[in-house]
Amino acid sequence: MEFMEVVRRRRSVRTYRPDPVPQAELDGILEAARLAPSWANGQCWTFVVVTDPEVKHALAQAGNDWIEQAPAIIAACADPTKSGEKGGQSYYLLDIGIAMEHLILAAAAQGLGTCWIGWFEEEKARKALGVPKNIRVVALTPVGYPDEEPEARPRRSLGEIVRKDRWS
Ligand SMILES: Cc1cc2nc3c(=O)[nH]c(=O)nc-3n(C[C@H](O)[C@H](O)[C@H](O)COP(=O)(O)O)c2cc1C
Repeated sequence: MEFMEVVRRRRSVRTYRPDPVPQAELDGILEAARLAPSWANGQCWTFVVVTDPEVKHALAQAGNDWIEQAPAIIAACADPTKSGEKGGQSYYLLDIGIAMEHLILAAAAQGLGTCWIGWFEEEKARKALGVPKNIRVVALTPVGYPDEEPEARPRRSLGEIVRKDRWS
């Protein structure tokens, strides 16, 4: 699929078929995340791939319990000490954001559905996954074959979001 077609066709998918995702497919999307840019190339990320039903259940209890129906959930975790900080802004969040978007677009290109999950209780997710205290659990995504074709959500036009040379 051509790049812009992947970008246009990606959706947040919230209904999945139960069919497992072959390891090669999971490896393909994780490889896209691995190649993402990061602050000083710190690569602060670790991706926990969850397919065990018990761990999935516990993780889903951290919020967005519907993600349990997906055959896999990927948790994107960060070691903030391997990233940077500038003007009070923590760059591990950006590092993870970029890597996750690589993963999400690669999934869309492979016909897999995902949905960025930002709302969850981090402590519960950490316990479910056995993640140590110094590591942040930044984002989750279910991964699987979509069982729905969501409509495109509206976006602001380029005219609304782009300015030339100066703010005003
Ligand atoms: C940072 C971030 C956090 C999000 N958190 C959630 C979430 O907790 N639960 C959920 O169902 N969707 C979540 N979403 C998905 C958004 O609702 C979705 O991207 C948006 O409505 C646009 O729809 P689309 O992804 O299908 O284009 C999140 C998306 C982003 C980028």
